[in-house]
Amino acid sequence: MEASLTERIENLKRERNAVILAHNYQVGEVQDIADFTGDSLQLSQQAADTDADVIVFCGVHFMAETAAILSPGKTVLLPDKDAGCPMADMITGEDVRALKKKHPGAAVICYVNSTAEVKAESDCCCTSSNAVTVVNSFRDAPEILFVPDQYLGQYAAAQTGRDMIFWNGYCPTHVRILASDLEKARQAHPGAPVLAHPECTGPVRESADAVLSTGGMCTFVRESDCKEFIIATEQGMLHRLQTDNPGKIFHSPNEVCVCPNMKRIRLEKVLWALEEMQFEVQVPVDIAERARMSIERMLTLSV
Ligand code: 13P
Ligand code: SF4
Repeated sequence: MEASLTERIENLKRERNAVILAHNYQVGEVQDIADFTGDSLQLSQQAADTDADVIVFCGVHFMAETAAILSPGKTVLLPDKDAGCPMADMITGEDVRALKKKHPGAAVICYVNSTAEVKAESDCCCTSSNAVTVVNSFRDAPEILFVPDQYLGQYAAAQTGRDMIFWNGYCPTHVRILASDLEKARQAHPGAPVLAHPECTGPVRESADAVLSTGGMCTFVRESDCKEFIIATEQGMLHRLQTDNPGKIFHSPNEVCVCPNMKRIRLEKVLWALEEMQFEVQVPVDIAERARMSIERMLTLSV
């Protein structure tokens, strides 16, 4: 009998000494074969700690790039070479250099959803789960430039009371969730708390019961006595929450919060990645060295 796709992936994984890491927004079949599924911070911690020779990164390009920067001796594969993040492409290293010229002495905090070149120009990275801690660690900086996500930046500013200068980047997927979607969802599911990702716009964050990273949502749901939840983030999250909490019910506020880039990766592409050792993500050494400092500073603040 012919081996199933999953068996072929498992066999090759052993042969290559590979680990499969998947973001919480991946399609269910990919989450199900992964060795670890998590949020951006957890995935970068896994990538930094693994003993595997090969990391198959089921996510988008900046995540695989971060893994490559943290694990210079390993081969990092992105199963679809076109799985990018439009938000990460909204600012370039050149843009950050120009900003720094305009604001000499300012500290630069970059959301991990950014290119290696932008990380290399920054003082520290952050993810949606540690942005508040990272901003607080720059108490003595005369000014803070926060790039590229204006919405995560606004959220961190509100939580810390710190004025910051924002880049006007945003996630084209999360801005599709409207405050009116939350109102309708609350009417349809009375009593269900609304959990929103900080990439959502201000009116959505303000009307949510909690603003959390995808990893934070997992913890909130696990520890909550509620039975139903409204999940204001990318739809892959519902698979993760449903797998972890079979007795609970999850609702999306609309049908359109789907990241087309996250959805490019399917089981076949994971198999082809391992068969062909494709598509390897590499970062030029000089950029990787500088970018690593801003990622490691974040990791040190997040233990
Ligand atoms: P988390 O770090 O909350 O998982 O968010 C990641 C993200 O925006 C991926 O696009
Ligand atoms: Fe980028 Fe938004 Fe997709 Fe996350 S959900 S990868 S921020 S486009």
